[in-house]
Amino acid sequence: MNEIAQAVRLLRAGCLVAFPTETVYGLGADATRADAVEKIFQAKGRPPTNPLIVHVADMRIARRFAAHWPDAATRLAEKFWPGPLTIVLKKTNEIPDVVTAGLDSVGLRVPDHPIALQLLHEFAGPLAAPSANRSNHVSPTTADHVRAELGDSVDLILDGGPCRVGIESTVLDLSTPEPKLLRPGGVSREQLESLIGPIAVFRGHVDSNQSASSPGQQLVHYSPKTPAYRFESHELDRLPKNDNVGILRLTENAVKYAHDLYAELRRLDEMSLKAIFVELPPDAPGWQAVRDRVVRATGSLADQESAAP
Ligand code: TXA
Ligand code: MG
Repeated sequence: MNEIAQAVRLLRAGCLVAFPTETVYGLGADATRADAVEKIFQAKGRPPTNPLIVHVADMRIARRFAAHWPDAATRLAEKFWPGPLTIVLKKTNEIPDVVTAGLDSVGLRVPDHPIALQLLHEFAGPLAAPSANRSNHVSPTTADHVRAELGDSVDLILDGGPCRVGIESTVLDLSTPEPKLLRPGGVSREQLESLIGPIAVFRGHVDSNQSASSPGQQLVHYSPKTPAYRFESHELDRLPKNDNVGILRLTENAVKYAHDLYAELRRLDEMSLKAIFVELPPDAPGWQAVRDRVVRATGSLADQESAAP
């Protein structure tokens, strides 16, 4: 039996299948089955208060799961799907509450990866899938990363090679009249605004100690196990330089940086270092998504300096 057919058979039986997308690998289950979706939360150690994204094959299917589908959603879906954009909309009852952590909205996305799309077409239903990592770890961008994170708790891993984008999708909330950017990602705010006008940006997590006021917006997220700190380019000479620390410098462009970021963090994390230092991307268009991930994955350099003996 080919692997996609086997994946479909497992999903129909309520099992978990990890699959590649253009952003990061997802840990998928039948989104209409609460028992299957529960297994995702168990495998990840994910708090039940953090909702999952529902993946579908196309816009027509997405509309089935949205109680209200605004014109803006059509414009965005026509332009950016398949692609790294998740649209949050009021949900229908076909999506069980466990998927959305009890919220009355659901995040919908059509991934741009041939294996994900073939799986969605052959499964012919919605797949709930968060990133295929343990809760709060760095997202996986290869099948090996998924194996290292989840081991036997996933029934099958479809290997599609390294992910093209490398960081998670943009999450845009259209469930209320005011569009809100909940997570920057592969589609930029400027790209979204050129189609639907002004978008409010959720900034609750950036450099603040306040607790999350919206699901998934915790400050520490996507982080390595080794203590990790961010530094600004002009602070390079303040870093300790010895064999016990790893330093991750910026690359020439944000697309390449996003592609490599999680794999590099993982590589450094496996070296048993005392600390990892990550150069903070500029506060500039194009860099916002990776800047967000670096801020969430690291503490400030001042924190490190006050902790050092
Ligand atoms: O690129 C991606 O989005 C990947 C691939 C696998 O599709 N998935 C992913 O899922 O990153 P996850 O679970 O790691 O992140 C989903 C984010 C979380 O921050 C969650 O809180 C938010 O989307 N989210 C999902 N549904 C939501 C909803 N109804 N309202 C608000 N936020 C929601
Ligand atoms: Mg995640």
